[in-house]
Amino acid sequence: MDWREFWNSEHSIYVNARHKTLHYDRIARDLVAYIPRPDATVLDYGCGEALSAASLAEKCGTLYLYDAAPNVREKLRGRFASYRKIVVLSTDGLDSIADGSLDVIIANSLLQYLQHREFEDLLDVWHRKLKPEGRLVLADVLPPDLDAIADVKALLDFAWRGGFLVAALAGLGRTFFSDYRRLRNEVGLTRYAPEDLFTLLSAHGFTGEQAPSNVGHNQLRMTFVARKV
Ligand SMILES: C[S@@+](CC[C@H](N)C(=O)[O-])C[C@H]1O[C@@H](n2cnc3c(N)ncnc32)[C@H](O)[C@@H]1O
Repeated sequence: MDWREFWNSEHSIYVNARHKTLHYDRIARDLVAYIPRPDATVLDYGCGEALSAASLAEKCGTLYLYDAAPNVREKLRGRFASYRKIVVLSTDGLDSIADGSLDVIIANSLLQYLQHREFEDLLDVWHRKLKPEGRLVLADVLPPDLDAIADVKALLDFAWRGGFLVAALAGLGRTFFSDYRRLRNEVGLTRYAPEDLFTLLSAHGFTGEQAPSNVGHNQLRMTFVARKV
């Protein structure tokens, strides 16, 4: 199994429904800050189940959702079929977005699951699709020194404040024996020091800066905003 297969499977990363709801609510609230205008055209790339996409879509003209996992896309199509502003893309659908047409591209909690080469290829695609003044938001990026214990602490803090601590403790027990832990140990997660990310961005025609806070509950991870040079 690789990360793509993992995200396409019935995993239990979200310890219960409340965790999943609070997670997507929180990221949608944080992402709204990156929508520049009510008519903005936005792509959420690697969007996952995007439970709160409707609230993000309220702040834009069009919200494109794309995820590599076919099972996730199926759920998205069912959930958002009646939403006029939300378009769920297939892999081919990405090509149908005109070059230079997007105001914002969001990639939240995605980079850690991509090999460098795949990320670099995506940077070129994203560069082509963004308007000259468009913004690329790379969020929930793991720094090199963040270990699994820090992620566990951040989850427990989120769970304590969200009222699902007992479920989180049970969920951590499940994760300990899960494919996630095995993949994290064997395949690993891709991490970036800010200066390395800036170098990569610059090699692909972007200039970037780190945002003062991360999108989502884990403030030990980082968000970067890049624009075309
Ligand atoms: C940790 S989840 C993040 C979901 C959502 N963005 C969030 O922040 O909750 C990572 C998602 O990225 C998707 N993904 C992984 N590799 C991808 C790729 N190369 N292209 C698009 N999506 C990808 C997975 O299918 C999964 O849904």
